[in-house]
Amino acid sequence: MFDMADLSSTIDREFYLPADEFFRAQHGTALAYDDATLATLYSEILPREANLETTLTEGIHLHIPIVSADMDTVTESPMAIAMALSGGLGIIHCNMPERQQLSEVSRVKNTVHGLIQEPIKVHPGQQIGEVLDLIEQKGYGFRTFPVVDEQNRLLGLLSGHVVRPRYAGIKVADAMLPRAQVHVINEKELGRDAIGRADRFFNEFVGVHKLLVVDDQDHLRGLFTISDIERIRQERNAQLKPARDSKFRLLCGASVSAPRNSTGELDRDRIVAHIGGLVERGVDLIGISTAHGHSKGVGDTVQLIREVFPHLPILAGNVTSGTGVEYLAKCGANIVKVGQGPGSICTTRIVAGVGIPQLTALYVTARAAAKCGVSILADGGVVKSGDIVKAMTLANAVMCGGLLAGCPEAPGQVMEINGKLYKQYRGMGSHAAMQAGSAARYGHASKDTMRKVAAEGVEALKEVSPPLDVILLQLAGGLQSGMGYLGTRTLEELRAAARYIRVTPAGQRESAPHDVIELKAGG
Ligand code: XMP
Repeated sequence: MFDMADLSSTIDREFYLPADEFFRAQHGTALAYDDATLATLYSEILPREANLETTLTEGIHLHIPIVSADMDTVTESPMAIAMALSGGLGIIHCNMPERQQLSEVSRVKNTVHGLIQEPIKVHPGQQIGEVLDLIEQKGYGFRTFPVVDEQNRLLGLLSGHVVRPRYAGIKVADAMLPRAQVHVINEKELGRDAIGRADRFFNEFVGVHKLLVVDDQDHLRGLFTISDIERIRQERNAQLKPARDSKFRLLCGASVSAPRNSTGELDRDRIVAHIGGLVERGVDLIGISTAHGHSKGVGDTVQLIREVFPHLPILAGNVTSGTGVEYLAKCGANIVKVGQGPGSICTTRIVAGVGIPQLTALYVTARAAAKCGVSILADGGVVKSGDIVKAMTLANAVMCGGLLAGCPEAPGQVMEINGKLYKQYRGMGSHAAMQAGSAARYGHASKDTMRKVAAEGVEALKEVSPPLDVILLQLAGGLQSGMGYLGTRTLEELRAAARYIRVTPAGQRESAPHDVIELKAGG
């Protein structure tokens, strides 16, 4: 008998192929995001029920699978803070002096805590001037410090009101609020909802902004601040949950370059000292971003970091081949960055004639990554939320530059041209960025930048966009829509369920608004 249901599913299976069949059937053709589309599947879920959680490696758990690029026109501390507050991750670029990068990481890690378990303390014998130097050196965004003795017993609180150059010569002991006047709570009284307990305290003691936590012997065990508690209360109502570490601090990554000494060897001491400083400030992940990650220099750097910091998550790249993924995984990387030439400001394919359109690169590398037990980050070329849906059928997260560079949280000034507002966005392989320090990322010595080396990126402008949380909500919403169409509740289910089909140029035209006069750009 003629079975209609059977015919329907057979015809679907012939046209809408799972990744392994689809990509292998392309016979040596490399596809970009727009070259394929995803078939819809039976669904029982609403987009808002789709869960966007992803774990890139142990300790790097994100609520949305979006990472901001380690580029000097995209990620410094304001972007990294905003990314983590919305559940993603920012990687602070390294086109700045090492000391400044340490401060940038400190700013992110010290942003919002619940209970600050290891507050920065001062001692009674120090002078206010020394405290001011400490704030400057470490880039602290706060000025109030508990005062403790050698045994970490609480002696008082140095309030921000007195931490001023005018009082530089005064001793902490003479300027602090004495122990008897400091508001404290015993750690045993915190119970299971420490945030709720602190919240009640700040309601009761009007005007008090700090609550110190002590043990039975009066040792300092932690600190609550009213602003953190208020932020956390707001976050509980927010649509996107912050990405935090085990100590409730915002997640933050930082990229490093691989400097060489005068004999051309990796400058081991400098690399270890720099990363040691970042680790001390609480960095969660180290990135090694280069245009060619399947290279000895990058492999040696990853190996060196893995040797000295056995548990530190390492993100390395960029590659577009299975052997590239295996190589970096073997060297010790946990996450491999995929993308050569898809970026909106990239000219690598034009200048060097190399690189692979991103969707195929993701398929090839994803299969190698699954074997090696590493995750992959789809880096570059994401211009709309639909690209993220396609990327997430193969990768564990996406990295975005251009999509975020117009946000107020990105570095750089807003400029007005013909009544429109723009921000600068430039490739890290552009002449200007290489002169500012990123030449090594493109395999050039910094002195080469004085000559006319081949730039692999352009300097560009992005129209100013709304704040990052608005952009991320739109992108996350788009990804959830895609998951809703495929009936998948989790990103893992999305990867398993995806069915692809090629799109012709006519199909691409059909996919975008057409034959209308657009009054307002859509998402
Ligand atoms: P999007 O498309 O998000 O791409 O703007 C950001 C990614 O592009 C890479 N990148 C470059 N690639 N020349 C290149 O070929 C460059 O100058 C350049 N600068 C950045 C990088 O991987 C980034 O995350």
